[in-house]
This record gives sequence, C-alpha cells and structure tokens, in this order.
Amino acid sequence: MNRIPLILDGDPGHDDAIAWVLAAADERFDIRAITTVAGNQTLDKVTYNARRIAALLGLDVPIARGREIPMVGDLIIAPGYHGVSGLDGPSLPEPAGEESELSAVSLMAKVLEESEDKVVIVATGPQTNVGSLLVAHPELKDRIELISTMGGGLRNGNWTSPAEFNILVDPESAYIEYHSGVPLQMCGLDVTEKAMIYPEEWEQIRDMDNKVAKTVAAWLDFFFIHLKELGWDGATLHDPCSILSLSHPEIFTFRDYYVDVEIKGEYSRGATIADYRNVLGREPNCRAVMDVDREKFVELLVEACRSFGGNHE
Ligand code: BDR
Ligand code: CA
Repeated sequence: MNRIPLILDGDPGHDDAIAWVLAAADERFDIRAITTVAGNQTLDKVTYNARRIAALLGLDVPIARGREIPMVGDLIIAPGYHGVSGLDGPSLPEPAGEESELSAVSLMAKVLEESEDKVVIVATGPQTNVGSLLVAHPELKDRIELISTMGGGLRNGNWTSPAEFNILVDPESAYIEYHSGVPLQMCGLDVTEKAMIYPEEWEQIRDMDNKVAKTVAAWLDFFFIHLKELGWDGATLHDPCSILSLSHPEIFTFRDYYVDVEIKGEYSRGATIADYRNVLGREPNCRAVMDVDREKFVELLVEACRSFGGNHE
C-alpha cells in the first residue's frame, strides 16, 4: 500500500487534536511531521499541546514550532472556545521527545525535499506557516500534492460576520496560499458547521476502553461548553473535516470555485469570497467542501476512536 505522506500543521485546539486522532488512526496516512502555529492560543501553549497529543497517540514524529505572530497585525487567540491552555479538559501525558530544532517552515521544507512522493499538508490553524513556506520556498510548490485546509466560509464567518477565525487571524498568509497555484481543498464553515456530533453520540466514545477515546470524549465535553452557550446543539468538528475529506471523499460534496481572500476590507477583512457567477473569468483555484453526510462522519470518528483498542489504556 502506498501511504500518503502528511504534514499536520495546526494550533491545537480541541478540534485540531481530534483531526490528528483521525489521521493517526488511518493506516493510509504516513504522518511525517507536526508543525504548530499561533492561533487558538499562543505558540508556546499550542506547541506544548501538540507534543502532549503526540505522546497520547504514540506518534514519534518531529514537531516544530512556527511563527509566534501572523504575517501582518496582531495575534487573535480563542480562549473562550479552547480554554487558558488552548486544550483545556482532560489531563494528557507529558511530551515524550524533544522539540525539533528546526522552524516549522524549515521542517516542512525538509519533509517536502526528502519525500519520494508528493506530500499533503493539512493546515487546521491560521495559514501562517503555509504562507511563509510558499514565500520562502517557491521551488518546493510542486512537491505539495494538496493543501487540505480548514478555514474560511463562503456563506458566512464565525468571528466577524464575514470572516472565519483561522483566516481572520492571518488573511495575508491565506491570500498567498489562495494565489499560489498549489492544489487547495477548503473545508470552510459551509461544511464544518454541518459536521456536528451530538452529546449522546459521544457517550459511545467515552464508553470505549481506551485512553484516546476517553480523551476525545472529554475534549468534546469541554469544547461543547462554549458552543452550547452560543446556541449549538452539538460540537462542530471543523478541523476533522480536513482529514476525513481526504480519506473519505465519498461522504462529502465538493464544488470547484475561484476563491479570493479579502485583505483590505474595513468590515470584511479575512472573508473568503467565491466568484459564484464567474464574473472574474478565472480558473477555479480551490475545491470547496460544501456538505457532508453527518451520520457517516460521526460513525467514522467512532470507528477511529475504537481503533486505539486497549493498547493505549
Ligand atoms: C477554527 O477555529 C479554531 O478555533 C478551530 O480550531 C478551527 O480550526 C474554526 O473556525
Ligand atoms: Ca484549529
């Protein structure tokens, strides 16, 4: 079996962590590196979280930290959703190995240079590392098979009315990505707000006899606290869409669009705008993931949690 080489780039974060559980559970993926980016919390905190998640999952891969701030402007963090640590809730094992001495961009470049097959980058935080990589190493663009990203929303935002959090934190990096010519799969709010799991559904995950599953259930408990206050009936699994849309495209609906990122707007900075009517006459630069079979999505998460068996108890 030809496994798909992956770089996991994110700001964990409860839903980033669950995305990484899904990636680690699927034997078709070969996780080559983890890179962290400031977003849900500060870079120090999300890097520590990434190392603890790797320890939980038994992932022995290099982990490198990215930039501490976005390309332009100040960092925005999301403690309301993810807590003071960026990953509040269950206790986690301490990191098992040392952090890489390389920067996130250098580690990404090394993986791209050394891989025989083209690499998929899964970017579930602000696009700062990806944007920086594309600027620093344009010669490596054709070593990237696909960037599978959670970010944006073609119909609405979640941090401001038009802008989603990951894109709003660093619109310039997202702009570079959308203008790079690298194949891009966009899981925006259009699909991720439909990728919902309800509290009664994650009880079956809690009931499993393994530490990963129990941790996932406890992450969902925490993540749901704020979502419930906002009126949601369940937890919206944004970042997991970027993994499952790769591994199980049959449960998703896709549309190809030319999408641009607003970097100037007074009220709309960070918005992702699709040229639905092809007014600009440009070729699509992105495959937008628009819908999901929610029940199958939940089944896949349940199966992934079950795959950790009793080995990690
Ligand atoms: C995105 O923002 C973060 O809080 C989540 O981890 C996800 O990547 C959703 O807007
Ligand atoms: Ca995230």
